[in-house]
Amino acid sequence: MIIRKAVIHDVDAIFDLIDLYSKDDLLLPRTQLSLYENIQCIRVAEMDDQIVAAGSLHVLGRDLAEIRSLVVDKKVKGLGIGRSIVHSLIEEADKLGVENVFAMTYQVDFFKKCGFHIVDKEQLPQKIWKDCINCPKFLNCDETALLMKVADYKKSISLH
Ligand SMILES: CC(C)(COP(=O)(O)OP(=O)(O)OC[C@H]1O[C@@H](n2cnc3c(N)ncnc32)[C@H](O)[C@@H]1OP(=O)(O)O)[C@@H](O)C(=O)NCCC(=O)NCCS
Repeated sequence: MIIRKAVIHDVDAIFDLIDLYSKDDLLLPRTQLSLYENIQCIRVAEMDDQIVAAGSLHVLGRDLAEIRSLVVDKKVKGLGIGRSIVHSLIEEADKLGVENVFAMTYQVDFFKKCGFHIVDKEQLPQKIWKDCINCPKFLNCDETALLMKVADYKKSISLH
Protein backbone atom coordinates (compact mmCIF):
# COMPACT_ATOMS: atom_id res chain seq x y z
CA MET A 1 0.00 0.00 0.00
CA ILE A 2 1.30 3.47 -0.81
CA ILE A 3 0.05 6.89 0.24
CA ARG A 4 0.56 9.57 -2.38
CA LYS A 5 -0.77 12.87 -3.60
CA ALA A 6 -3.88 12.52 -5.72
CA VAL A 7 -3.82 13.18 -9.45
CA ILE A 8 -6.64 14.01 -11.83
CA HIS A 9 -7.07 10.39 -12.92
CA ASP A 10 -7.93 9.41 -9.31
CA VAL A 11 -10.97 11.68 -9.10
CA ASP A 12 -13.62 9.18 -10.23
CA ALA A 13 -12.46 6.59 -7.68
CA ILE A 14 -12.30 9.20 -4.87
CA PHE A 15 -15.76 10.45 -5.83
CA ASP A 16 -17.18 6.90 -5.65
CA LEU A 17 -15.72 6.31 -2.16
CA ILE A 18 -17.09 9.61 -0.81
CA ASP A 19 -20.44 9.05 -2.51
CA LEU A 20 -20.89 5.72 -0.77
CA TYR A 21 -20.47 7.18 2.70
CA SER A 22 -22.20 10.51 2.07
CA LYS A 23 -25.35 8.58 1.15
CA ASP A 24 -25.28 7.25 4.73
CA ASP A 25 -24.83 10.84 5.99
CA LEU A 26 -21.41 10.01 7.46
CA LEU A 27 -19.73 12.84 5.61
CA LEU A 28 -20.60 15.71 3.30
CA PRO A 29 -20.99 14.93 -0.39
CA ARG A 30 -18.37 16.40 -2.77
CA THR A 31 -18.89 17.10 -6.44
CA GLN A 32 -16.36 15.88 -8.96
CA LEU A 33 -15.68 19.53 -9.80
CA SER A 34 -14.79 20.28 -6.17
CA LEU A 35 -12.40 17.31 -6.20
CA TYR A 36 -10.71 18.62 -9.37
CA GLU A 37 -10.50 22.11 -7.88
CA ASN A 38 -8.92 20.81 -4.67
CA ILE A 39 -6.78 18.05 -6.17
CA GLN A 40 -3.59 19.50 -4.60
CA CYS A 41 -5.13 19.04 -1.11
CA ILE A 42 -5.99 15.35 -1.52
CA ARG A 43 -3.97 12.26 -0.54
CA VAL A 44 -4.91 8.74 -1.61
CA ALA A 45 -3.96 5.22 -0.58
CA GLU A 46 -3.31 2.87 -3.49
CA MET A 47 -3.29 -0.90 -3.24
CA ASP A 48 -2.88 -3.25 -6.22
CA ASP A 49 -3.49 -0.31 -8.59
CA GLN A 50 -6.78 0.54 -6.85
CA ILE A 51 -7.61 3.68 -4.85
CA VAL A 52 -8.73 2.32 -1.48
CA ALA A 53 -8.77 5.48 0.65
CA ALA A 54 -8.59 9.26 0.44
CA GLY A 55 -8.57 12.34 2.61
CA SER A 56 -7.89 16.03 2.14
CA LEU A 57 -6.29 18.88 4.06
CA HIS A 58 -7.73 22.39 3.78
CA VAL A 59 -5.89 25.35 5.22
CA LEU A 60 -8.35 27.71 6.92
CA GLY A 61 -5.93 30.28 8.28
CA ARG A 62 -2.42 30.97 9.54
CA ASP A 63 -2.52 28.31 12.26
CA LEU A 64 -5.36 25.95 11.33
CA ALA A 65 -6.09 23.27 8.74
CA GLU A 66 -9.00 20.83 8.47
CA ILE A 67 -9.05 17.18 7.48
CA ARG A 68 -12.05 16.58 5.22
CA SER A 69 -13.57 13.75 3.24
CA LEU A 70 -11.59 10.97 4.92
CA VAL A 71 -12.76 7.66 3.48
CA VAL A 72 -11.49 4.09 3.52
CA ASP A 73 -12.97 1.41 1.29
CA LYS A 74 -15.12 -0.95 3.39
CA LYS A 75 -13.11 -3.93 2.07
CA VAL A 76 -9.90 -2.67 3.74
CA LYS A 77 -11.16 -1.07 6.94
CA GLY A 78 -9.28 -1.79 10.17
CA LEU A 79 -5.87 -2.19 8.50
CA GLY A 80 -4.45 1.13 9.63
CA ILE A 81 -5.01 2.85 6.28
CA GLY A 82 -7.25 5.61 7.73
CA ARG A 83 -4.58 6.44 10.30
CA SER A 84 -1.85 6.44 7.61
CA ILE A 85 -3.82 8.97 5.55
CA VAL A 86 -4.39 11.16 8.64
CA HIS A 87 -0.70 11.06 9.48
CA SER A 88 0.30 11.91 5.95
CA LEU A 89 -2.09 14.93 6.03
CA ILE A 90 -0.56 16.09 9.33
CA GLU A 91 2.90 15.78 7.77
CA GLU A 92 1.67 17.93 4.89
CA ALA A 93 0.40 20.52 7.42
CA ASP A 94 3.85 20.48 9.01
CA LYS A 95 5.55 21.09 5.64
CA LEU A 96 3.20 24.02 5.06
CA GLY A 97 3.96 25.45 8.51
CA VAL A 98 0.42 25.05 9.88
CA GLU A 99 0.40 24.39 13.62
CA ASN A 100 -3.00 22.77 14.26
CA VAL A 101 -5.07 20.21 12.40
CA PHE A 102 -8.69 19.44 13.21
CA ALA A 103 -11.63 17.39 12.00
CA MET A 104 -15.39 17.70 12.47
CA THR A 105 -16.64 14.16 12.62
CA TYR A 106 -18.82 11.36 13.96
CA GLN A 107 -15.70 9.12 14.18
CA VAL A 108 -14.57 10.41 17.56
CA ASP A 109 -12.83 7.26 18.79
CA PHE A 110 -10.96 6.82 15.53
CA PHE A 111 -9.56 10.37 15.70
CA LYS A 112 -8.68 9.91 19.39
CA LYS A 113 -6.71 6.80 18.38
CA CYS A 114 -4.93 9.00 15.84
CA GLY A 115 -3.86 11.34 18.67
CA PHE A 116 -6.56 14.04 18.44
CA HIS A 117 -8.46 15.44 21.43
CA ILE A 118 -11.94 16.92 21.63
CA VAL A 119 -12.18 20.71 21.52
CA ASP A 120 -14.99 23.17 21.87
CA LYS A 121 -16.16 24.31 18.42
CA GLU A 122 -15.84 27.90 19.66
CA GLN A 123 -12.07 27.33 19.54
CA LEU A 124 -12.36 27.10 15.75
CA PRO A 125 -13.79 30.48 14.70
CA GLN A 126 -12.30 30.23 11.20
CA LYS A 127 -14.39 27.10 10.59
CA ILE A 128 -17.55 28.45 12.18
CA TRP A 129 -17.54 31.73 10.27
CA LYS A 130 -16.49 30.22 6.95
CA ASP A 131 -18.48 26.99 6.66
CA CYS A 132 -20.65 26.17 9.67
CA ILE A 133 -22.68 29.33 9.42
CA ASN A 134 -23.94 28.20 6.00
CA CYS A 135 -24.71 24.65 7.15
CA PRO A 136 -28.38 23.70 7.67
CA LYS A 137 -27.30 21.87 10.86
CA PHE A 138 -25.58 24.98 12.28
CA LEU A 139 -27.78 25.31 15.36
CA ASN A 140 -28.09 21.56 15.91
CA CYS A 141 -24.62 20.37 14.92
CA ASP A 142 -24.09 16.79 16.08
CA GLU A 143 -20.50 16.42 14.86
CA THR A 144 -17.59 16.58 17.28
CA ALA A 145 -14.55 18.80 16.75
CA LEU A 146 -11.18 17.14 17.44
CA LEU A 147 -7.81 18.79 17.15
CA MET A 148 -4.16 17.80 17.13
CA LYS A 149 -1.17 20.06 17.45
CA VAL A 150 1.37 19.25 14.74
CA ALA A 151 4.12 19.64 17.37
CA ASP A 152 2.46 16.90 19.49
CA TYR A 153 2.31 14.61 16.46
CA LYS A 154 6.02 15.16 15.80
CA LYS A 155 6.79 14.47 19.46
CA SER A 156 4.75 11.23 19.38
CA ILE A 157 6.53 9.89 16.29
CA SER A 158 9.95 10.77 17.68
CA LEU A 159 9.15 8.55 20.70
CA HIS A 160 8.53 5.49 18.49
C1 LIG B 1 -13.28 6.14 10.09
C2 LIG B 1 -12.40 5.47 9.02
C3 LIG B 1 -11.71 6.57 8.21
C4 LIG B 1 -11.36 4.59 9.74
O1 LIG B 1 -10.47 4.03 8.80
P1 LIG B 1 -9.71 2.63 9.06
O2 LIG B 1 -8.67 2.47 8.03
O3 LIG B 1 -10.70 1.56 9.19
O4 LIG B 1 -9.07 2.92 10.49
P2 LIG B 1 -7.65 2.35 11.03
O5 LIG B 1 -7.55 0.93 10.69
O6 LIG B 1 -6.57 3.26 10.57
O7 LIG B 1 -7.86 2.52 12.59
C5 LIG B 1 -6.97 3.17 13.48
C6 LIG B 1 -7.42 2.86 14.89
O8 LIG B 1 -8.74 3.40 15.09
C7 LIG B 1 -9.65 2.36 15.43
N1 LIG B 1 -10.92 2.64 14.74
C8 LIG B 1 -11.13 2.68 13.41
N2 LIG B 1 -12.41 3.01 13.15
C9 LIG B 1 -13.00 3.17 14.36
C10 LIG B 1 -14.31 3.51 14.76
N3 LIG B 1 -15.27 3.76 13.86
N4 LIG B 1 -14.58 3.58 16.08
C11 LIG B 1 -13.61 3.33 17.00
N5 LIG B 1 -12.33 3.01 16.67
C12 LIG B 1 -12.05 2.93 15.37
C13 LIG B 1 -9.02 1.07 14.95
O9 LIG B 1 -9.47 -0.03 15.68
C14 LIG B 1 -7.55 1.37 15.19
O10 LIG B 1 -7.27 1.19 16.56
P3 LIG B 1 -5.89 0.50 17.10
O11 LIG B 1 -4.83 1.54 16.94
O12 LIG B 1 -6.18 0.22 18.54
O13 LIG B 1 -5.66 -0.69 16.27
C15 LIG B 1 -13.23 4.55 8.09
O14 LIG B 1 -13.95 3.63 8.89
C16 LIG B 1 -14.23 5.27 7.20
O15 LIG B 1 -13.94 5.56 6.05
N6 LIG B 1 -15.45 5.56 7.72
C17 LIG B 1 -16.54 6.13 6.97
C18 LIG B 1 -16.27 7.57 6.55
C19 LIG B 1 -16.08 8.48 7.73
O16 LIG B 1 -16.87 8.53 8.67
N7 LIG B 1 -14.99 9.27 7.68
C20 LIG B 1 -14.63 10.25 8.69
C21 LIG B 1 -15.03 11.60 8.19
S1 LIG B 1 -14.24 12.89 9.10
